Amino acid sequence: MSEASDAARLAGETRALREELGASVVIAAHHYQRPEIVALADFVGDSFMLAREASRAKAEFIVLAGVRFMAESAAILAQEGQKVLIPDPAAGCPMADMIDGPGAEAALEAIAAVCEAPVVPVTYMNSYADVKSFTGAAGGSICTSSNAATIVDYHLSRGRAVFFLPDRNLGQNTAAAMGIPEERVFTLRKGGKIEGLGDPKAGRIFLWDGWCHVHTNFTVAEVLGARKRYPGLRVIVHPECEREVVAAADASGSTEAIYKAIRESPAGSRWAVGTEGSFVSRMAAEFPDKEVMHLRVATCFNMSRIGLSNLHASLASIKAFRASRSPLCFRVDVAEEHRRLASAALRSMLDIVEART
Ligand code: 13P
Ligand code: SF4
Repeated sequence: MSEASDAARLAGETRALREELGASVVIAAHHYQRPEIVALADFVGDSFMLAREASRAKAEFIVLAGVRFMAESAAILAQEGQKVLIPDPAAGCPMADMIDGPGAEAALEAIAAVCEAPVVPVTYMNSYADVKSFTGAAGGSICTSSNAATIVDYHLSRGRAVFFLPDRNLGQNTAAAMGIPEERVFTLRKGGKIEGLGDPKAGRIFLWDGWCHVHTNFTVAEVLGARKRYPGLRVIVHPECEREVVAAADASGSTEAIYKAIRESPAGSRWAVGTEGSFVSRMAAEFPDKEVMHLRVATCFNMSRIGLSNLHASLASIKAFRASRSPLCFRVDVAEEHRRLASAALRSMLDIVEART
């Protein structure tokens, strides 16, 4: 049998299994997932939408087609008796690995020692439960790329300074979009040094020096080069890109914001997109009346770990679990010591966003 017919057979079997499981299962997929996974999903969105959907889901089983911090966030928000699965638990995120709970605590102490205002953490969703729990314990909130400015503004407007972690670029782009002067933004370098142009006493945002390898390598030269080659082109990038790249682009936003901007643009529009490649290719196929191209092909190998075979295995394990309580492939659990405070930090984000929309 050819590879294509094998894939078609597996897609058919996975769809049949999903239908058999009915309302007991919801498959939530991130925008970076392969097209064959997106086609089987009940819900597709950015990481904010995945968390909000998980908090509202009624199904007993939530299969999160995405990376581990997304599944873990769904598990933190899950109701009593709900089980969250990820088809491949090795789907990590190198940026989330750039900080842990004790490291975050030490950084917060170092900032509090130099900054006059009380400091609270605003932690990007791309982090693990220990860091989310640290955030809840310190009175802070989680944010995503779709609401970082809203969450940061919520805390700044209450007279607090913000420790933004772990993505330096999203923090810098958020500060710039909010008009916060550069002299009031600082970066924590390795070894605990706090660097910036002004006096950290008056600091408003303190950034952890983390980054996403998929996004941080886009360059201004790529933006300018693409514009030169394709007249009328608009460039849209994810805010995990460097500050200069976001400034050179025409627009930036979360994966959902990028998807919407392209979907809603008039037929014949030309776009170069600076984010994960499988998502860009899917939009090019989904919107044939527009020209959608890669600013440069950049792959998140962690996202692409989820495929039809491990999704099928996850669904098959749910069927077996319901029949005989056999192990789920793979259940995501959160240590009890982290769950309550991590949930408080996530709910703080959901509440702030809901109150402001
Ligand atoms: P979004 O919240 O925009 O979907 O981004 C998640 C992510 O990991 C981007 O690299
Ligand atoms: Fe993490 Fe970057 Fe992949 Fe997003 S694209 S999941 S930030 S490695």
